[in-house]
Amino acid sequence: MTDTDIQYAGPQRVLSGVQPSGALHLGNYLGALVKFARLQHEIDTFIFVADMHAITVWQEPAQLAAQTREIAAAYLAAGLDPAKATIFPQSAVPEHAELAWIFNCVARLGWLDKMTQFKEKSGKHKERSSVGLYTYPVLQAADILVYKATAVPVGEDQKQHLELARNIAQKFNHDFAAPGCFPLPEPLIQGPGARIMSLRDGSAKMSKSDPSDLSRINLTDDADTIASKIRKARSDADVLPETMEGLEGRAEARNLVGIYAALAGETSEAVLAKFAGQGFGAFKPELADLAVASLAPVSDAMRRYLADPAEIDRILAAGAAKAREAAAPTVAEAKKLVGFWGT
Ligand code: TRP
Repeated sequence: MTDTDIQYAGPQRVLSGVQPSGALHLGNYLGALVKFARLQHEIDTFIFVADMHAITVWQEPAQLAAQTREIAAAYLAAGLDPAKATIFPQSAVPEHAELAWIFNCVARLGWLDKMTQFKEKSGKHKERSSVGLYTYPVLQAADILVYKATAVPVGEDQKQHLELARNIAQKFNHDFAAPGCFPLPEPLIQGPGARIMSLRDGSAKMSKSDPSDLSRINLTDDADTIASKIRKARSDADVLPETMEGLEGRAEARNLVGIYAALAGETSEAVLAKFAGQGFGAFKPELADLAVASLAPVSDAMRRYLADPAEIDRILAAGAAKAREAAAPTVAEAKKLVGFWGT
């Protein structure tokens, strides 16, 4: 038996996070938050606000803490329960940064050079990007591995970062002759049906950085705004088909059907069975009603939490204390393996 045959034998654990760098939209809600809330009933779940990742690009200091509370409020509004899941701000758990430094010395430049998200975010002038933006995926590996998380619910765009986390875990385990130390975390990718695209372009993901606000439904949009964005959403002149094959080449139609399905908790096939033969003139008002009815309670709950920031802060502080308890032994173990003084 070689050391690579020995596998991590610890408990299964889920971890994920969202950056506090802009308003949350329907894609975040259906693709991430709802999923987190479901997972907390099945498995030990850690969900954090990635404020250390947010500052890899400029964040207004006067707003950062409020943005962090806003993500926390959205978590709570989506049903995350602090009695079940550990909910905390990344910067309140210094163990993330400590492990990230060790991992910076494990990861190779050649691995980071391949990261497509850095290439996209740094654009034409990479020499003007922060060093933090470059080493961002190493901090992400530390976020995950400091809790020895085994599964990470993320979008497709984060698959490469998860692969890097596995490479770091494997190299650390190998270099320090501790084969069972870190698990090799797997991405939990949302099903194709739950991939929410822009309302203006069915081939682009719904995104907070899209310059057109009409492209997305924000969690804070009121009923009239939601209805009007759906009315103006791009669609086509055909009727809805009976089967998914009939949506081939109709990206916008497929997206609107997918959004209906995700909100209703049904499959796209079931939605088509209900609406086959009808055009968007009939389908859009139904979708608008469903979206308003599903999101109104979430944005109401978010507003209620945000009206009591002290309560959010209590929840985040308690979550951070729990998170530190889970993270500290991992950092102690890693420091000892590295051979640091006093460990
Ligand atoms: N990079 C993730 C995103 O932009 C956010 C993130 C940071 C994250 N650390 C993480 C997600 C750890 C999952 C696990 O969506």
